[in-house]
Amino acid sequence: MNHHTEHPPTFLDTLSRPLRSLRLSVTDRCNLRCQYCMPEEEYVWLPRKEILTLEEVSGLVDIFAELGVDKVRLTGGEPLVRRDLAALVKMIAHNQRIKDLAITTNGVLLAESAQSLYDAGLHRVTVSLDTLRPDRFTALTRRDFHDKVLDGIKAAGQVGFTGLKIDTVVMRGVNEDELIDLLEFGRQISAEVRFIEYMDVGGATLWSMNRVFSRAQILEVLTRRYGHIEPVAPVSAAPADRFVLPDGTVFGIVASTTTPFCRTCDRSRLTADGTWYLCLYAQHGIDLRSPLRAGVSKAELISTIVSGWTRRSDRGAEERKEMRSREVLIPVERLRADPHLEMHTRGG
Ligand code: GTP
Ligand code: 5AD
Ligand code: SF4
Repeated sequence: MNHHTEHPPTFLDTLSRPLRSLRLSVTDRCNLRCQYCMPEEEYVWLPRKEILTLEEVSGLVDIFAELGVDKVRLTGGEPLVRRDLAALVKMIAHNQRIKDLAITTNGVLLAESAQSLYDAGLHRVTVSLDTLRPDRFTALTRRDFHDKVLDGIKAAGQVGFTGLKIDTVVMRGVNEDELIDLLEFGRQISAEVRFIEYMDVGGATLWSMNRVFSRAQILEVLTRRYGHIEPVAPVSAAPADRFVLPDGTVFGIVASTTTPFCRTCDRSRLTADGTWYLCLYAQHGIDLRSPLRAGVSKAELISTIVSGWTRRSDRGAEERKEMRSREVLIPVERLRADPHLEMHTRGG
């Protein structure tokens, strides 16, 4: 039995995009309240009994892997608030078909968990960091954890993770004056910084086009400081456009708002309660928890997933861009009625 070495099939959606990358939101909870993601005072959480067990998640990952997924990213909410996350990492890392296993974390709990994640077989870490200024961090996240995040970033390197990335959502009037400082910080710690345009995803209830600091504006600021900036040829369907400064420093820009990359989007997301979303902006997901818990056969789960993917036509960010007047995607009342519509539920 060497089925792990066989090539899995490739399923294409209606725009010829393969099923390849799976983002696992392991919890909808978060220990920060970033303005661009969770700006409200109160949230409705997914019911606890509906949250998949780690074994259920890992079982689904194995099925996805048989269908062509070779890239898994753990997200949240904040994935590190999920108890025993390292055990899940271990189960997934065991699957030879998963070539890339990463996490996107806010870093608050990273110092205490980095070693166990590394030992469990996690490949890569991306930490969100929007500011180097403690007071600004507290204003942006409503929590006083800036030191913890910096400690977490340091710990990731110390335990041996390489390929560290820093994700910075750039908001006009909030942190657009820190682009250079953040790049310099990234260079010091050998992390690749990626600047992310503020997106009008579900949950971003404070979003307005005025607060978006665009890719063009980011490049303008950096060109003024560093001189000529050269694009780097893309290596994968990753959302970030990569660039190199004259001194060799590489950084990325994720321009989902002004330059969407839906055409090559190979990603889908599984929420903590087992709802499968085919687009960040999708209004409806496919319930995998109910069939799983009803004990349907693996063949039936496979057929649900394959039929979902082969029908997929989503290009949410492009459709948003085509809208004439672009306002908040989903009003607060609807988010309360269905927390699945929140970015923090389906994974950043
Ligand atoms: P690698 O490039 O493999 O390291 O990962 P990644 O860039 O996919 O992961 P990460 O979680 O760091 O994503 C960076 C940011 O891109 C996210 O925080 C989102 O702001 C944005 N993003 C992630 N997924 C999507 C998506 O499916 N669609 C769009 N439009 N934007 C996304
Ligand atoms: N715009 C852009 N990125 C966002 N994220 C969450 N909300 C938004 C938004 N409105 C992403 C950020 C953060 C990750 C967890 O989710 O990159 O670092
Ligand atoms: Fe993919 Fe949807 Fe994001 Fe476009 S908006 S890149 S289709 S997840």
